[in-house]
Amino acid sequence: MPRIAYVNGRYAPTAQASVNIEDRGYQFADGVYEYIAFYNRVLLDADAHLARLERSLAKLGIGKPMERAPLKLVMRELIEQNGRDDGAIYLQITRGVARRDHPFPQIPPRPALSMSVFEPKTPKPGEAAKGVRVITHPDERWKHCDIKSISLLAGVLAKQAAALAGAKEAWLLLPDGTVTEGAASNSFIVTEREGVITHPADHHILGGITRDIVLRLARENSIGVAERPFSIHEAHTAQEAFLTSTSPNVLSVVQIDGRTIGNGKPGPVTQKLMALYHSYILAQTGKDFS
Ligand code: PDD
Repeated sequence: MPRIAYVNGRYAPTAQASVNIEDRGYQFADGVYEYIAFYNRVLLDADAHLARLERSLAKLGIGKPMERAPLKLVMRELIEQNGRDDGAIYLQITRGVARRDHPFPQIPPRPALSMSVFEPKTPKPGEAAKGVRVITHPDERWKHCDIKSISLLAGVLAKQAAALAGAKEAWLLLPDGTVTEGAASNSFIVTEREGVITHPADHHILGGITRDIVLRLARENSIGVAERPFSIHEAHTAQEAFLTSTSPNVLSVVQIDGRTIGNGKPGPVTQKLMALYHSYILAQTGKDFS
């Protein structure tokens, strides 16, 4: 069965789905995106993702191509047309097609909406049980990381550095040594005194949907939470570290730049949060990870 994509009102095999070369997304990265997982054909946290999408659009002055309810109908139809139970939808909205000129076009074009479907990015064998290694990399991104912009070059370069180093992720550092987040995930450390520590959801990071759920689950289960910046030095000496993203969810980080974190194994707090998050997915979608 070919993968089916959606582009501006049409469903078509992904290989044949195309956009205009004068789309401002193509020429200026003038657009935003979301990446939403589904299990048993049920979208996980669709409203939280779509609320973040609406915030990103509003911050860039891009109109909504359609309201939330019809958008969800299109996503559900796309899942059906792809005949896949588990996976993820990549959804992108750009300012639309206009002759190339930096300022917004005087007559706003119709925002362009496209979606494609992917197989789930499940952790490689052993990653969930043994944890993963990350490297650090300078945070070379712009000052509006809270917008889920399609302008991802700094993240691409950081991820490539991680791939070359055989690491799962790059943790991004400000010049003063603050860890903001990963190139495509949020970053957390765990200490005995404070519990789970993660950068506040300000303009330095993308406030992850998984991050929000994991912090809520931690608070509901009497695990301490501190939303404050932490340094790479604190990360090196933390008891535990982990990362979160839509897929692959919660992953223990057992090595940063070759330095072992804690005892080099997924710690009890991370394991508890992984289990709680899996129960959360089970309750929402019926998907059983155990
Ligand atoms: N990335 N921070 C950044 C920079 C990200 O790109 C992502 C997600 C996250 C985690 O957000 P969430 O929990 O809402 O997935 C944090 C997606 C998955 C991507 O670019 O493919």
